[in-house]
Amino acid sequence: MELFKPTLSDVPRMQRLVQPFCEEGVILPRSEEEVAGAIRSYTAARIEGEMAGFGALYIYNTRLAEIRSLAVAQERQGQGVGGAIVRALLEEGRQLGIAQVMTLTYHVGFFTRLGFKEVPKEEIWHQKVWEDCIRCKHFPICNESALILEL
Ligand SMILES: CC(C)(COP(=O)(O)OP(=O)(O)OC[C@H]1O[C@@H](n2cnc3c(N)ncnc32)[C@H](O)[C@@H]1OP(=O)(O)O)[C@@H](O)C(=O)NCCC(=O)NCCS
Repeated sequence: MELFKPTLSDVPRMQRLVQPFCEEGVILPRSEEEVAGAIRSYTAARIEGEMAGFGALYIYNTRLAEIRSLAVAQERQGQGVGGAIVRALLEEGRQLGIAQVMTLTYHVGFFTRLGFKEVPKEEIWHQKVWEDCIRCKHFPICNESALILEL
């Protein structure tokens, strides 16, 4: 597996990879323009020349960032791809001087293994709710869990 920073030509491939998870409602759909505008926030993984997954580190302010849009292709799940992407995003956060990384997820076990701790959702909602949650089809009845990692 090879980790890389995707470029604009990868955007259509990223949209195809994430589409089933958006349809399931576990990842918020983003337009091609939105993904392109945030392209520097993404890290992706490639196996045998094919994109296997990606995720983004989105910065809210000088202290706080979020891991979001994390998706590993169905046939590549459970092979360490997601873990490798998250570790690379955390390293990027460290290098940028980020103090805290949050995430909202249905996969609590996956993130606690990577060092995240579950927190009450209200702790992060003030950051996320007006930007993203309001666009989610599950809003305001959200069953996701909030987790935070201190870097
Ligand atoms: C969640 C997701 C990103 C995990 O990626 P992955 O590549 O399958 O995960 P990894 O193989 O790196 O898993 C790392 C470890 O966590 C474990 N793990 C994976 N998902 C888990 C879960 N939901 N609960 C507990 N442990 C989990 C794996 O067994 C593995 O353990 P191991 O290292 O001892 O074998 C992936 O399943 C996915 O894309 N899901 C659909 C999209 C989604 O829900 N994204 C939102 C995430 S915020």
